[in-house]
Amino acid sequence: MYQPLMDLTAEQKDILSGKEGETKAKMMEVLVRYGDVFGAKRLVPLTYKKGHLVTSFGISMLKPVFPLMDELIAAGLKAPEGFTADPRPMDFQNVKANLLEKLVFTKFMYSKQKSYEEQLTKLGLSSKDGFSCTCYLPEVGNTPKAGDTLSWAESSAVVFANSVLGAKCNRNSGILELFGTILGYAPEFGFLTEKGRKATWKVVLKTTKKPEAQILGSAIGMKVMDEVPYVIGLDAYLKPLPDEDTIAYLKDFGAATASNGAVGLYHIDGITPEAKEKGPSLLVDEPKEYVIDDAEIERVYRSYPIMWKSRDAKAHKCFIGCPHLTFKQLNDWTDKIVAGLKESGRKKLRIYTVLTTAPAVAAKFKLTPKYQELMATGAHLSSICPLMYADNPVAGARPLMTNSNKLRTYTFSRYYKDAEVLSIITGKGSK
Ligand code: F3S
Repeated sequence: MYQPLMDLTAEQKDILSGKEGETKAKMMEVLVRYGDVFGAKRLVPLTYKKGHLVTSFGISMLKPVFPLMDELIAAGLKAPEGFTADPRPMDFQNVKANLLEKLVFTKFMYSKQKSYEEQLTKLGLSSKDGFSCTCYLPEVGNTPKAGDTLSWAESSAVVFANSVLGAKCNRNSGILELFGTILGYAPEFGFLTEKGRKATWKVVLKTTKKPEAQILGSAIGMKVMDEVPYVIGLDAYLKPLPDEDTIAYLKDFGAATASNGAVGLYHIDGITPEAKEKGPSLLVDEPKEYVIDDAEIERVYRSYPIMWKSRDAKAHKCFIGCPHLTFKQLNDWTDKIVAGLKESGRKKLRIYTVLTTAPAVAAKFKLTPKYQELMATGAHLSSICPLMYADNPVAGARPLMTNSNKLRTYTFSRYYKDAEVLSIITGKGSK
């Protein structure tokens, strides 16, 4: 039996020694070894037991995952309070694919999707519509509260839970997060400790206007990498939480910090719960400092490589909503698109545009008149993960555009600011 470095309770030792079965013992060993590597002193019980899985896609090359899931099912194991999962990779109804793309997606890349979803259901997937990275939005309902300890892995959801909700979660890896959820424990290190939640970077915002969330997050992520920033000055541009625009801004900002760097927790002075409670005392003594002004935002934006074969190509598709859009964002984008088309004198969008949102948010939106307004512009509404769509040599080789810094980072997609996206897809402002 593995000899743990950390202290375990009698119950945890029993699981590790196999008293609750071989499969549970192996899962416990993985969790304990993981904690030992990071110097955890113990395993703490999850106070928020609902999980969220980053591995939502039945990608055939993940060969060890499928028998592993079968073993968990055969051992009768299940997430006690269920889980949601990241978005699905395919939606041919709302994200058009040609014959070759369909063949590649269904026969090669995601050939295991159907059987994998059956495995997820047996392990506790909360609903067939539980596929979104924004599981924490009220419509989806997987929302931890301040102080909760949880076991998630999706980087954009972890950084939101830690920073905006004030919950405690490390940036775990896929499958490990499921083991934690089923066992009900997490190793206590990093963001689960008071010390790990201290900010080592003081970021001072000196811009003359509210920066694009995706660029500010990218700038901070690339600078601080996996450390914790405390941002001063952004509260001048944000209304207090739970304002819907602030939630959307911090969602997009956080996803960019987490993907352009590896941020798992940020504090926004005067806005996020811990910063409101403790203020700059969250900073370590002698923190590093990063000043961001208009020129720095522009420098970061101009530094993004353009991976298209031809810079002047016309985009094949445009994705808006990575992470998935909130209900408010969906409404705002609809208004902006309709107004943009009116201004340009066009009836339909110039580019095949997909807005992505959680299934529950899409369902709510479809009940409103705005849904028909959006559809009349030729836009498409889907709940896929654009990254899973674009991260392959067939669909991803085409010139794709986006306002998501995460999508830009992981694929060849070209990043544009929101206003640029609007102008390109509607023709607004062009002669
Ligand atoms: Fe969500 Fe996929 Fe983007 S998981 S954050 S839509 S890469």
